[in-house]
Amino acid sequence: MEKYVIEGGHRLQGEVVISGAKNAAVAILPAVILSDEPCTIENVPNISDIDCAIKILLRLGAEVRMINRSTLYIDPRKIHSHTVEYDLTKNMRASYYFLGSLLGKVGRADVSLPGGCDLGSRPIDQHLKGFASLGATDTMEGGMVHLTTDHLTGGRVYFDVVTVGATVNIMLAACKADGMTIIENAAKEPHIVDLANFLNSMGADIMGAGTDVIKIRGVQYLHGTQYSIIPDQIEAGTFMVIAAATEGDVLIRGVIPKHLESITVKLQKIGVSVEEYDDSVRVRGTGHLQKTSIKTMPHPGFPTDMQPQISTLLTMAEGTSIVTEGIWDNRFKYVDELRRMGADISVDGKVAVIQGVDRLKGAPVKASDLRAGAAMIIAGLAAEGITEIENIHYIERGYEDIEKKLRALGANIKKVGIPEDGLLKQVR
Ligand code: EPZ
Repeated sequence: MEKYVIEGGHRLQGEVVISGAKNAAVAILPAVILSDEPCTIENVPNISDIDCAIKILLRLGAEVRMINRSTLYIDPRKIHSHTVEYDLTKNMRASYYFLGSLLGKVGRADVSLPGGCDLGSRPIDQHLKGFASLGATDTMEGGMVHLTTDHLTGGRVYFDVVTVGATVNIMLAACKADGMTIIENAAKEPHIVDLANFLNSMGADIMGAGTDVIKIRGVQYLHGTQYSIIPDQIEAGTFMVIAAATEGDVLIRGVIPKHLESITVKLQKIGVSVEEYDDSVRVRGTGHLQKTSIKTMPHPGFPTDMQPQISTLLTMAEGTSIVTEGIWDNRFKYVDELRRMGADISVDGKVAVIQGVDRLKGAPVKASDLRAGAAMIIAGLAAEGITEIENIHYIERGYEDIEKKLRALGANIKKVGIPEDGLLKQVR
């Protein structure tokens, strides 16, 4: 087991380059299965969720080679299985994208699904409703979802909630279905558009991605492609908050500023300076943070995946801020840890009331999920004294080389092994 040890209170300055988007990559890797030829994918982030996706591709029979640190060559032509077992899916929620891609490729998919998670219940009813509209039947047995169809045909799907996962899954399944699929109330996140661009680069016929109606005309053959994944909106947003929280001055490079708009607007409201350039943003903490109200919403609203990070910043802002979580039932778990660092936050259901304090104080804390872990890093960098963060495997699921990137900006952070408890060792 490893943990991060952070000595807080250093102003971060310099430049950081953002990696490829996790949530685009975890959709694009399963999408390669649909191709009839090999593909080369660039700007793949080096994170543990991608390791999981690669293991699944290998187990299914694909050939996967690393061309360099961020480029993968994937040849799906020898795929011989449509089953993804629990040992491969339990650590990666997005493994359910193999349902859509395998169904689209061979008309069958057996994928074991992880249950709920720390964000609250994670139903897949909208995914199954979409697959049914395309002519698939589903059964569930031993935690495994089985999908079958004799003939996948285009259909009309209306989602009752805006869902990223179901939008991705139906796009994947519909690419090679017979005829036209229309998805209404579709998610509009940047990674939905990236997936559509990737599929279209292989010869798919997808229109409207980025709006709430996506039309997919099925094609018979998808050719190989070379494609570069978009930069990670949430990693960029996390570094923006880090710059603000440490009163720093950071140029965040390799980003698409349009994707960061909702974050930029809120940071400016809080009193942070954000300057946009073609493919970078410069963020400077002004030393005076002000309260604000935030509600997380589907894109182009403020992203839920930035809620723990911005809430952490607001613990240090003057006045009372209100943060409402509009997507997940249970995304305030990290608040207990922040309280241990001196934050003044009360939570009632999906609403947090944050009373700003002058300074957080270092403490031993735990990451309860990926973005909660990012929040702990932000708190630790801004706090007085030493913060130790456990459960960093959550953070490594989605942030490439975060401690190296932070050190290059002047942070005092190191990763250390946690030795086994000496007392327990004597007993065993
Ligand atoms: C994606 O999860 C992201 N994950 C999440 O990021 C992100 O928080 C979420 O979208 C919202 O933006 C990936 O892209 C891999 P949803 P997903 O389906 O697709 C309800 C991170 O930190 N719903 O858009 O699973 C659901 O309960 C992760 O990087 C149904 O009711 O989210 C939720 O309330 C965490 N039925 C809402 O919709 C369904 O069938 C949005 O979920 C599906 C979803």
